[in-house]
Amino acid sequence: MSWDLEKIKTDIAADVQAAGALDALEAVRLKYLGKKGLVPEMYAGLGSASAEEKKALGKGANDIKVLAETLIAERKAALALSAKKAEALDVTLPGVQRGLGSRHLIDQTIDEICEVFQNMGFVIQRGPEIESEFYNFSALNIPLDHPSRDSFDTFYLDAKDPDAVGRHLLLRSHTSPGQVRVMQKNKPPLAVIIPGKVYRPDAVDASHSFMFHQIEGLLVNRNVTFADLKGLLTAFCKKYFGADVKMRFRPHFFPFTEPSAEVDIQSNIFKGRAGKWLEILGCGMVHPKVFAAAGYSAGDLAGSTEASSGTLSGFAFGMGVERIAMLKHGIGDIRTFVENDVRFLKQF
Ligand code: PHE
Repeated sequence: MSWDLEKIKTDIAADVQAAGALDALEAVRLKYLGKKGLVPEMYAGLGSASAEEKKALGKGANDIKVLAETLIAERKAALALSAKKAEALDVTLPGVQRGLGSRHLIDQTIDEICEVFQNMGFVIQRGPEIESEFYNFSALNIPLDHPSRDSFDTFYLDAKDPDAVGRHLLLRSHTSPGQVRVMQKNKPPLAVIIPGKVYRPDAVDASHSFMFHQIEGLLVNRNVTFADLKGLLTAFCKKYFGADVKMRFRPHFFPFTEPSAEVDIQSNIFKGRAGKWLEILGCGMVHPKVFAAAGYSAGDLAGSTEASSGTLSGFAFGMGVERIAMLKHGIGDIRTFVENDVRFLKQF
């Protein structure tokens, strides 16, 4: 009589490991240690063996018995422990806290600014971020040789413009092309604001980024004057920054408005340069060439007769959202908006 002890040992280890619950483990115990199990069978075999064989077979049976007992006891303890752990789930403990996200400050600022103008009767419109040279420049009276058309100042795409031979599409460098698109689709009078992203290959520093946000405004009606523009933007600044805001209109030049101005706000956000004026927007009276490019003429004023129509006129403005958020919240570096640092984002 002889037993393959090594095979029995590996069988026991495998059976014990495979037992995933106490009843399966009990079946394993019976298989090896039960009355009709392997270990009693091994002992029973000793009776017919010679004295010398007995010694070796007896030791083998003992080893198997001890191994089976030890492995089963260990496994039993392990199964009991995991059962206890599963039971120990305390539903009254606080759950895992998941951080709640929030709207980005730039989105919030866009909404707040738009709301001020919506309350004054303006309607939100959108334009595409990929534009043609026609909408971004030509229709806005920006001549072919104007420096802003240079690839140093505008991101051009590989994609060819399907409507202009030899010309490429580009990422809009301002939201003003939206003016032309809105006028092509809608007859005057109208008052719209056009928020969105704009792109310029600027070197990135504390106040410049290659992508930022603008909100364009356009109002067209009869006999609109610069005083209307000034009144509207003053009302906006007071509403948005508070009645004691310090602002100034500074003469400027834009090809698509005449006359033109920039508006500055006085700020204390830059360390050591308190009282510095910071430009927040460009504005002016819509240039007649822009009306012409959009297909507008005086007779377009809805419901008007030649005699009562007055002069087709309008104003436009374009403001920088990041600048305005920086001024309002005392943020000194435009790069913080895109650094995705939760400690910054959480504050708003
Ligand atoms: N588009 C101009 C800019 O990006 C701003 C502007 C808009 C000026 C409308 C006048 C009228 O600088």
